[in-house]
Amino acid sequence: MRHILWSFIVLILVVQEGNANGKKVFETYCWGCHHQTAVAFGPPFSDIASKRSAEEIQAMITDPQGVSKLFGYKRNAMPPFRLKPDELKAITEYILSYKPKGK
Ligand code: HEC
Repeated sequence: MRHILWSFIVLILVVQEGNANGKKVFETYCWGCHHQTAVAFGPPFSDIASKRSAEEIQAMITDPQGVSKLFGYKRNAMPPFRLKPDELKAITEYILSYKPKGK
């Protein structure tokens, strides 16, 4: 019985570990330069979500220097981020959740 209980607790911890929260990633790393729907130093998430795919968003986060030119920016002002895979997935979903309806 004890064993089963411990496996259960370990399982819960593992599940939480692999389940990063997009809003938290946003507040930790992106909030200084991006806002959800208003222009800040960088473009708003609603703008990004209306024109980029998940792959494009993730490419920008991990390699902005290489990608921002392709996106039409003259200078790259965004720093690269080394996020854990689950954080990257969570922030991507968070950004895409701001996609305006009908676009
Ligand atoms: C130091 C300011 C800064 C921070 C912090 C920052 N960004 Fe950016 N971001 C920018 C700027 C400025 C641009 C415009 C392109 C450029 O300058 O390279 C940009 C562009 C982007 C784009 C592409 C926009 C497009 O045209 O599609 C994405 C996606 C993006 N940022 C996501 C993020 C995410 C996610 C985070 C947090 C993990 C983040 N940014 C943190 C400044 C920042």
